[in-house]
Amino acid sequence: MAMRVYNFNPGPAALPLPALEKVRDEFLSFRGTGMSIVEVSHRSAEFGALLEETDAGLRALLGIPDAYAILYLGGGASLQFSMAPINLLGRGRVADYIETGEWSSKAIKEAAKVGRVNVAASTKAEKFRRIPRPEELRLTPGAAYVHLTSNNTIYGTQWRRFPEAGSVPLVADMSSDILSRPFDVEPFGLIYAGAQKNLGPAGVTVVIVRRDLVGKAPEGTPTMLDYKTHVEGNSLFNTPPCFAIYMIKLVLDWVRDQGGLEAVAARNERKARLLYDAIDGSGGFFAGTCDRDSRSRMNVTFVLARSELSEAFAREANAAGLKGLKGHRSVGGFRASLYNAVGMEAVEALVALMEKFRKKNA
Ligand SMILES: Cc1ncc(COP(=O)(O)O)c(C=O)c1O
Repeated sequence: MAMRVYNFNPGPAALPLPALEKVRDEFLSFRGTGMSIVEVSHRSAEFGALLEETDAGLRALLGIPDAYAILYLGGGASLQFSMAPINLLGRGRVADYIETGEWSSKAIKEAAKVGRVNVAASTKAEKFRRIPRPEELRLTPGAAYVHLTSNNTIYGTQWRRFPEAGSVPLVADMSSDILSRPFDVEPFGLIYAGAQKNLGPAGVTVVIVRRDLVGKAPEGTPTMLDYKTHVEGNSLFNTPPCFAIYMIKLVLDWVRDQGGLEAVAARNERKARLLYDAIDGSGGFFAGTCDRDSRSRMNVTFVLARSELSEAFAREANAAGLKGLKGHRSVGGFRASLYNAVGMEAVEALVALMEKFRKKNA
């Protein structure tokens, strides 16, 4: 097998090796059909079974009650920035948005094209280095929903405890931390996640929507933008992203085999702690870019205090087979994305390189 590198990409990102091997092994004949998964009909019994199993896998791992439908849509998480308000923000109502990074800013921009938006809190003035505290939230009584981004992929912050909004449903973009930890689905009216981090390859967005919120899009809503279309069609109104769904199923099997979300979360916690400890214990050589109580377990952002050494560090990381560590252009520095499929050995290799580099340049 060709050598595989330590992949710290923010998304598309590392996927579990057993899932990739399974794709390779059955790529020419999906479940004995004599056709590849990219050749079978989405209306075939085999694909229908796969869709049901994927649903069951997500329901079991995330504890999704029957009151919620699961959809597999195209258009990325970015399309959900529009679909969420089109479907849930009724005329004359207000949606609260919590701005914690570029992805929430984009969600706000799209929602404001659809209806009334209240930015209930924002940490933009602090360069998004933290998640707002509960007492900072200016929530609107009777809002249609409260939107948040559970993990801020670019800045490296993550909600530890989701805000309390009473009977107002939460809506969350969970693109970069879904399946990384257990959480209670019940306060949420809608959860969406582009697959290309913890779920599978790019091309599919998983949407989990409370059924009673579906069917309220205004008249004239384009068919494809109405959740009702996809709930009624069981994600088969049009041709779904078949291959991406197939890979989600394989990734769900892997998560189950790891011991489920509790086990995966514990491992994610250990991985993140190892790296943050290396940063914090470097005597200021490396520095985290976010407040400690807001730090993400998925995307660890850091800089070198002597920024002139950044290029050399990037070069050495690259030469050592540590890939995808460049920080987002709006933050700079470095970002190690530690999604589920990134193993402890990858983090150990990164920490070892950081130590070596620090000693050499101290
Ligand atoms: C939190 C978050 N939301 C939304 C997006 C945009 O997703 P997509 O490219 O699937 O539209 C990303 C992409 O990285 C993301 O990290």
